[in-house]
Amino acid sequence: MPKLTVCGGGNAAHVLVALSGQANWDVDIYTMLPDETERLKAGIVDQGYIAAQDGEQTYHGSPRQISTDPAAVIPGSELILLALPAFAHAGVLSGIAGHIDPQTTVGALPSRGGFDLQVANLLDVNGLSLCIFGLQTLPWACRISRYGQQATILGTKATVDIAVTPPDHAAHVLTQLAFIPNVAFTPAESMLALTLSNTGQLIHPGIMYGLCSGRENGIYDEANIPLFYQGIDDFTADVLQQLSDEIQMMTQRIAALAPQFQPSAVRTLSDWLYRAYNDFIADRSSLKSSFVTNAAYAGLRFPMRRLSDGQFMVDFTARYLSEDIPYGLVAVRGIAELVKVETPMIDRIINWAQGLLGRVYLEDGRLKGQDVMTSRAPQAFGILTLHELLTYTASRI
Ligand code: NAI
Repeated sequence: MPKLTVCGGGNAAHVLVALSGQANWDVDIYTMLPDETERLKAGIVDQGYIAAQDGEQTYHGSPRQISTDPAAVIPGSELILLALPAFAHAGVLSGIAGHIDPQTTVGALPSRGGFDLQVANLLDVNGLSLCIFGLQTLPWACRISRYGQQATILGTKATVDIAVTPPDHAAHVLTQLAFIPNVAFTPAESMLALTLSNTGQLIHPGIMYGLCSGRENGIYDEANIPLFYQGIDDFTADVLQQLSDEIQMMTQRIAALAPQFQPSAVRTLSDWLYRAYNDFIADRSSLKSSFVTNAAYAGLRFPMRRLSDGQFMVDFTARYLSEDIPYGLVAVRGIAELVKVETPMIDRIINWAQGLLGRVYLEDGRLKGQDVMTSRAPQAFGILTLHELLTYTASRI
């Protein structure tokens, strides 16, 4: 049987193990966290498999090996899936480099911005003839119900954009991902298109900024924790619209400078919402109403941290900033600098968020802060022109 290795031990990893095991892949798990490895092994010893519950349907997969040692699980894998937040990609890619067989497919679910640049920087892409792919989003909303034993698929996205490098390997990757049921993967033109079309980088920091700037020290009772998506006001909707417009301007500029760049996968925020949540939105009359009346967002609240007195404050270290700023907005801000597009709203949000995160990306309006090198802006990889950006992955030897 073909073998795949799932990197990670969280919600998405549980679902991938169950689905691929059911579809007759030999599955191994690589985690960098020893505690997770022990807990996963304990779960498997007790039950014998990991199950994913999707409505009435249950999928079962039994990992052969679970290890923190890449030499034990990576060799022999024809497919390596990173089911991780983007801030874990570099550590995991560095860990598995040197153990990957030629012609392996390495993909991230989801990729966030600049994933291809990071892979090309850390792995011998050309020497090993690797195939890289990224998904625009995770195909499921999913949660672990019992660690090492059971996950629940709460919802499956009908269509998910995928970018493959080199592009002529797309059919091969889609065959490898055929074990994922009920999802139509739509090929995006390039990893650059995927970087620009990452809507999480707009929605998450945009809502955090729109609803929290000037109110960073707000204290909430548990019953009054604000709704995240459905709580947006006119100001926040305008912030989101401006972010979307800036991405569109950047996309058009790149297409004008590089005719081979076909930007159809880079949708406006409204178009993305309607495509992703077609049946869930009751009122499409405005961007604000499309969020507020979106049933898929019902009940989802702000990420919070509990204070010693039992009250709550917004958690500004949550992934909505710690993942979506360095691996999202900073990555596209770097691209804007390469193609000389002004991005006043992206700049405003990065300036606000970097203070809360204790990082410096923008300095005097330029992407030259001390933390740029740990982001996935092109500049972190020494890329200073659009041509270098378009040819970086292919040119790595
Ligand atoms: P999770 O938090 O359940 O699992 C993440 C896993 O990453 C951890 O279990 C651990 O194995 C690994 N990890 C975390 N920090 C690490 C580090 N510093 N070094 C090495 N490994 C580390 O996350 P989940 O839910 O599986 O999500 C994966 C990705 O999918 C994230 O980017 C998330 O934002 C995204 N996503 C998740 C959704 C969901 O419903 N679970 C929905 C949409 C997107």
